[in-house]
Amino acid sequence: MTTEQLKEKFIEKYGPGEVNGYFSPGRVNLIGEHTDYNGGFVFPCALSFGIYCLVRKTARKTVRFASLNLPFEAEVKVTELNQRVGKEWVNYPIGVFAQFMKKGITFEEGADLLFWGDVPTGAGLSSSAAMEVVTGVMINDQYNIGVDKVEIALMGQKAEHEFALVNCGIMDQFVSANGKKDHAVFLNCDTLKYELVPVVLKGVKIVISNTNSPHKLDSGKYNERVAECKAAVAAIQPYKQIAALGELSWEEFLSVEDKIENETVRRRARHVVSEIKRTEDAVKELRANNLEKFGQLMNGSHDSLRDDYEVTGFELDTMVEEGRKIAGVIGTRMTGGGFGGCTVSLVRDEAVDTFVEQVGRNYEQKTGLKPVFYVAEIGDGGKKLF
Ligand code: GLA
Repeated sequence: MTTEQLKEKFIEKYGPGEVNGYFSPGRVNLIGEHTDYNGGFVFPCALSFGIYCLVRKTARKTVRFASLNLPFEAEVKVTELNQRVGKEWVNYPIGVFAQFMKKGITFEEGADLLFWGDVPTGAGLSSSAAMEVVTGVMINDQYNIGVDKVEIALMGQKAEHEFALVNCGIMDQFVSANGKKDHAVFLNCDTLKYELVPVVLKGVKIVISNTNSPHKLDSGKYNERVAECKAAVAAIQPYKQIAALGELSWEEFLSVEDKIENETVRRRARHVVSEIKRTEDAVKELRANNLEKFGQLMNGSHDSLRDDYEVTGFELDTMVEEGRKIAGVIGTRMTGGGFGGCTVSLVRDEAVDTFVEQVGRNYEQKTGLKPVFYVAEIGDGGKKLF
């Protein structure tokens, strides 16, 4: 849908008058998975698709929420923008209003809001973070609040914790707020210092393959992994003073690994510490234009997520295995939280059609699910459109 069409939809719904529009992207993570809530590195990029939010301030003391993707609508008093509304999608934007209220901001004027997204939901491409960030960017601008993009990302993450009950890390909201066209964000999730690294892939495309097996981030498995990482830290603490796994180098981890008695917890920690190292190495390789090495690290990341972290599953593993059979695939791995969702692959230009056709056919044969493929375009972080 074009922005003109979106404006028309807004006017159809709420009547004529001035309208402003904002956009925040979904993301694909190139490498650095399940490292963010351990204070490690991640390396995601913002996508060209995401969530749009159209708005008009009103004299009414309520905020009206509507979406062009989902039928549920709500009207909430400006004094009650800190309360959950059942299990509905509106909790994502309301959760962000709530964070502003926590900062002592009172909303005197109401607003009419209309959301629309072209990022597939439940595919692990962070549609929820995009919705949180677009809401934050919109509120910040419309109500002249003056927080920065890092703060908006942190508020989005808090909204996710408190209103969607997922104890996520900062990666998704951070890249949705701070991403840049044709760049990946190399983020230290402990300090929130970041660098924008140009992604110049000569003759190579980033292909996203949606397994169409919905990722079940709120199923409790994600929070279980967060808890397992905390257990690993607790087991190491009597021997080495750390607050998070991200503080350990790979060599340090090897020297304390045997202190973690629980074998599952030990494997979880091994994934996290090795993935942080892979991410740092991958950024170096990309900067040096060594795409083959970058691809090998992506492959290593998937194998570690499959064997040690156990967040892949039949669909993601099948997609990756089929991808690896195609000549011209430089690297392929699951991306995002896991348990379904998408893979990300580096594919040589001349192999993209074969990839889509053969991986598509074989994946469907093995899983009974029809996949969807996108050639990713790296876009900008959250912004005002009009
Ligand atoms: C989800 C979370 C992120 C991150 C990834 C795994 O997308 O929202 O914070 O933990 O999973 O890397």
